Amino acid sequence: MSLIYNIGHLVGIQPSGVLRVQGAAQGQTGVLEHAWLSIEDGRIAAFGPMASCPKMAGQAGQDGSVMPDPDRASVDARGGMVMPGFCDSHTHVVYAGSRDGEFLDKINGLSYEEIAARGGGILNSADRLRQTPERGLYRQSLVRVKEMMKKGTVALEIKSGYGLSPEAELKMLRVIRRIRETVPAAVKSTFLGAHAVGRGYTHAEYVQMVIDLLPEAAPLADFVDVFCDDGFFTVEDTERILEAARGLLTPKIHANELAVSGGVQVGVRHGALSVDHLERTTDAEIEALKGSKTMPTMLPGSSFFLGLPYGRAKDYIQAGLGVALASDYNPGSSPSGDMRFVMAQGCIKMRLTPVEAFNAVTLNSAYAMGLSDRYGSITVGKKAALILTEPGWDLTRVAYQYQTPFIRKVYL
Ligand code: NIG
Ligand code: FE
Repeated sequence: MSLIYNIGHLVGIQPSGVLRVQGAAQGQTGVLEHAWLSIEDGRIAAFGPMASCPKMAGQAGQDGSVMPDPDRASVDARGGMVMPGFCDSHTHVVYAGSRDGEFLDKINGLSYEEIAARGGGILNSADRLRQTPERGLYRQSLVRVKEMMKKGTVALEIKSGYGLSPEAELKMLRVIRRIRETVPAAVKSTFLGAHAVGRGYTHAEYVQMVIDLLPEAAPLADFVDVFCDDGFFTVEDTERILEAARGLLTPKIHANELAVSGGVQVGVRHGALSVDHLERTTDAEIEALKGSKTMPTMLPGSSFFLGLPYGRAKDYIQAGLGVALASDYNPGSSPSGDMRFVMAQGCIKMRLTPVEAFNAVTLNSAYAMGLSDRYGSITVGKKAALILTEPGWDLTRVAYQYQTPFIRKVYL
């Protein structure tokens, strides 16, 4: 059992059973000032106001729920904030090398589509990945995941999609599994065979290859994804792949990054857990999402890096939906897994309130990878996957003063 006391703000308190927040509820979260929190077997055991703190009283807590324990390891938060760690429901952190060469093309004015059309982009990463032994791929990727954990990420999803052949896609999925087995953060795995058409295949052959690979990929993955967008995969391709994946893997779809693609609607029809990107959306997408279990997920890091419009998060929330934000950490459109920067962009560029952005990078993002029963809020019984900040921080300042180091310790 351990105890954190003298917490300035304990932020993100939710009753148990709340798996996502939508509409007006996205703008609210439970906050306790001058609080304590106890941890047992890696889970949140109890919390309350300092007046009832078991350690400070030196006796049973006034609420009787926490007994004094001589073995208790206690941490004085010195007025720091405690919040649930960041949940990042959309990343491509398993990749080989980098694409810094294309960075110059981009600076010189080429668009994402133009770079891809010249054989750069995803195909460039696929070439590098195939030349990299599995062990090296694991090592490089682990460095990135450790960097993310240091910055407060406690749960993340990782996609395949830089293999683009049966062998290389399975290699990626094995690397993701090994990362999952190694790190204390929760890791979910997504089979994104349909990320781009691999070299040596026609479009139709490639879609068939992805479908044929599903039975072998499914045991290594939790989800299936398709890049349903202009120049990549069509709604019909997506439909076929999701039909074939039915009963094997739940969909999470890349949609509406480059064009209004129809990806949102096909995802919702197939019970997708999330539809992601949404830089280009009309009211029809918002309508399609109403009443569904699908979490619209926006990736401001790729809007920032590619100069795309930011998703209309505010309109989704005003329509009564919930919104998640994720990093999209990948070498081509978002070479950063910094969820604090994602949260700040949610506020600065998407006009979310700090609480709306906070819920988007914690509870709703946990929902978007099927983890919100265990992650994403301060709730008794959930994993004690927490950020303890330096003294004096609150949610608004985390987003506002978005580059000043604020983390004192990440609990995993
Ligand atoms: O989510 N849009 C598709 N996939 C990634 C980018 C992949 C890449 O360029 O390497 C994304 O932005
Ligand atoms: Fe992505």
